[in-house]
Amino acid sequence: MKQSSAAPRTAPPSRQAAAARERLALDQAGIEAAKSDLQAGAVTPHFGPWREEIIALLNDALATEWICVLRYKRHHFTAVGLASPAIANEFLVHANDEAQHADWLARRIVQLGGEPDFNPDTLSQRSHASYSAVRELQAMIRANLIAERVAIETYSQMIALIGDKDPTTRRLIEAILEQEQHHAEELADWLAPA
Ligand SMILES: [Fe+2]
Ligand SMILES: [Fe+2]
Repeated sequence: MKQSSAAPRTAPPSRQAAAARERLALDQAGIEAAKSDLQAGAVTPHFGPWREEIIALLNDALATEWICVLRYKRHHFTAVGLASPAIANEFLVHANDEAQHADWLARRIVQLGGEPDFNPDTLSQRSHASYSAVRELQAMIRANLIAERVAIETYSQMIALIGDKDPTTRRLIEAILEQEQHHAEELADWLAPA
């Protein structure tokens, strides 16, 4: 059938559909390869060269979470008796949240075939956030807010780096990031104007 001259100059739908199918074609060799190498568990060829780098990012995040657990615990126990027991108690809630994040990260590292690094000798060097033994309540809040902001920035960058290379890890980091943002919001509310 002859097209009118006003018709857009595009390929017929059937050819477009074929081209789309070609662009969205699955990697059959990868699917075949997934049937072997069974000891790799959840790690299939899709991870390609990224698996080890993702594990390294997760291990640095694991170290950061543990330093945050230690800092919040220190602040919880030393802030008891200071002006605000409610804030001291909230430090413990945050410590427990960070421990939960550490567990999630460790589980994912193992699922990716890696080894979670809990070595206490190197925890603080590998952590993005710092430990703090300050004794005054406002200084504690400030130190924790700085650490939360470092965690938020780190996790945001990790999400951008991982993208669609590992959707499961990305969703895990997104869930942690949401809690770090909640922590930071709370701390900022308690921070007295400088
Ligand atoms: Fe955390
Ligand atoms: Fe946090």
